[in-house]
Amino acid sequence: MKIDILSAVPDLLSGPFDHSILQRARERGLLNVNVIDLRQYGLGKHKQIDDYQYGGGAGMVMMAEPLFNAIAELKGETAYDEIIYFTPDGEKLTQSVANRLSLCRNLLCICGHYKGIDQRIRDHMVTMEISIGDYVLSGGELAAAVLVDSVGRLIPGVLNDETSALFDSFQDNILAPPVYTRPADFNGWKVPEILLSGNDGAIEQWREEEAIRRTKSRRPDLLDKA
Ligand code: ADE
Repeated sequence: MKIDILSAVPDLLSGPFDHSILQRARERGLLNVNVIDLRQYGLGKHKQIDDYQYGGGAGMVMMAEPLFNAIAELKGETAYDEIIYFTPDGEKLTQSVANRLSLCRNLLCICGHYKGIDQRIRDHMVTMEISIGDYVLSGGELAAAVLVDSVGRLIPGVLNDETSALFDSFQDNILAPPVYTRPADFNGWKVPEILLSGNDGAIEQWREEEAIRRTKSRRPDLLDKA
């Protein structure tokens, strides 16, 4: 999968994809992330990319023309499955959205700043709008990093144990059960006996019960969807 990210602050994205699982995905050629500097499409000698908003009001708006030129050029090189704009009023990024996007070949992500981008780009070029939660970020870059992480780990072959993403929290709208590792007794805090029993069937049942108990107490809203 290729994910292109158009950003006015590309430095914000130098780093998050260079470690751990995403780094491995890139090394294996399963994920290719490119950050493109919007400023290179800026207008005039100051490479302007934002301007005052019509109708007055505080805050700058990212101009249509630099975004249009950048997106048009990128679309000329790549057939995108989705052109995604990050915004608090977009569709909530859930595991099911991440699952769906992990099946795409090429994504273009557009990161807004200031008051956002000129609505005409949203109307005519963007195909999907995503929010990562009900709070306001100062730009779309961190949202793009969250999307790349949540989608990238779902690409077949990225996780070593192919089954492990299947047991993630939210995969069936059920949270993951608690996990433990050695030692079995740390400071007198003991690992549940059942996990040391070697009885696979009983362990599996315990995990299911714990997952449901945790979901009931922490996220009862998910159980309606499960
Ligand atoms: N840009 C600003 N806030 C955002 C949010 N919550 N999700 C996605 N993009 C954003």
